Amino acid sequence: DAPVPRLTVIGTGYLGATHAICMAVLGYEVLGVDVDPVKVEWLNSGRVPFFEPGLPELLAKALDSGRLRFTTNFAEAGDFGDVHFLCVGTPQQKGSDAADLRYVDSAVTELAGHLRRRTLVVGKSTVPVGTAARLTELVQRLAPAGTDVELAWNPEFLREGYAIDDTLRPDRLVFGTESAWAEERLRAAFAPVIARDTPVVVTDLSTAELVKVAANSFLATKISYINAMAEVCEATGADVTGLAEALSYDDRIGGRFLKPGLGFGGGCLPKDIRAFSHRAEELGVGQAVAFLREVDAINKRRRARTVDLVRELVGGNLAGARITALGAAFKPNSDDIRDAPALDVARTLHQAGAHVTVVDPAATENARRTFPELTYGSDALTAAAGADVVVLLTEWTQFREIDPHAMAAVVSHRRIVDGRHALNPAQWRAAGWEYRALGRP
Ligand code: UDX
Repeated sequence: DAPVPRLTVIGTGYLGATHAICMAVLGYEVLGVDVDPVKVEWLNSGRVPFFEPGLPELLAKALDSGRLRFTTNFAEAGDFGDVHFLCVGTPQQKGSDAADLRYVDSAVTELAGHLRRRTLVVGKSTVPVGTAARLTELVQRLAPAGTDVELAWNPEFLREGYAIDDTLRPDRLVFGTESAWAEERLRAAFAPVIARDTPVVVTDLSTAELVKVAANSFLATKISYINAMAEVCEATGADVTGLAEALSYDDRIGGRFLKPGLGFGGGCLPKDIRAFSHRAEELGVGQAVAFLREVDAINKRRRARTVDLVRELVGGNLAGARITALGAAFKPNSDDIRDAPALDVARTLHQAGAHVTVVDPAATENARRTFPELTYGSDALTAAAGADVVVLLTEWTQFREIDPHAMAAVVSHRRIVDGRHALNPAQWRAAGWEYRALGRP
């Protein structure tokens, strides 16, 4: 039997922190590495620097086991690890659709000089196809002479809010490798996950890089497809929720990611489809994924249409209207406001002169920091006092369960826009509300 590898995880953001914690819980010795001393200090003292259900408890368990700690020191990482996972962010560049690879490059550069024995560096970050080949050249050039270092790619598919489950019980593992040795190391590093009958796809580096962007592009396309149907429904008086339900019973289509509404946001889908379009254009195959530009455009039009519905309800002029916006996070059970459709709508309403009060169970602090011009309320009923229109933008359970009679008692006008098809129209109308939703008559 090969000895159990010791793992480092470089980058302790959403992906890296979850991966490090889960691997320690599975029994590996893990060293997390980050350039941010504050993050390292938080994690070492048992605090998770972002919102993820269950992760604080799992971090406590991992720290108690003595198998997990965090450092800012790359020399320590080089000494410690047999397998190094790259989990740093690849955000969208400012002023371009391309991915910003500076964190990936600097992580590899920092680590390379400290590699001392035969090691495997495994990329998990979402990158433009071709990055792994470039990083292979970089790490081999910078590693001390005689050090045998190989690169592999293992894309990560975790969803916020389900990060632990997606890491411990993924749908599949993808190993992009260049040698049998790399594959064997990866199999050893995921042995407990593989033991749960998880399918493993072993492939080359480029294919492994592409799997991630192809999957996210497909998911984004599915959402925009049903939202495009919503636009057609709006023009004909048809109902997109009935349409989506009927489509979902076809096994070949399926109901997941077919939920119409305000569309997708977050730190992955929007920037991944843009970076993919950009990369495909660089490769001379832009036309093959030209539809992704349309997927992005459909998604943005849903935000504009939601603003229009609110404007129609107040008679055409938003100036001075009092609007209660339910939701700020890009999806429920998250405090993440990156490219959040909810805040995009709230800000547009504000810019049109409306008084907007935003309520969110988890994302208020993040939203306040980024959009200090908006007003923030503590709970839906208090925030709705005197409202001319209530608009539901993120489908938190708390909002789904609002009693339309209780809310009717506090607002100025009973008008609601349901941006996520989260409410029962019959129930709201019975309580005297004018109910409007995207893609429904
Ligand atoms: C996504 C991918 O699902 C995950 O595999 C990848 O690793 C990272 O990107 P995440 O960003 O956490 O994960 O969010 P996800 O749950 O996929 O939702 C994305 C967005 O799509 C949200 O804004 C959500 O509200 C929206 N959405 C999702 C819809 O509008 N309709 C749907 O039917 C599903």
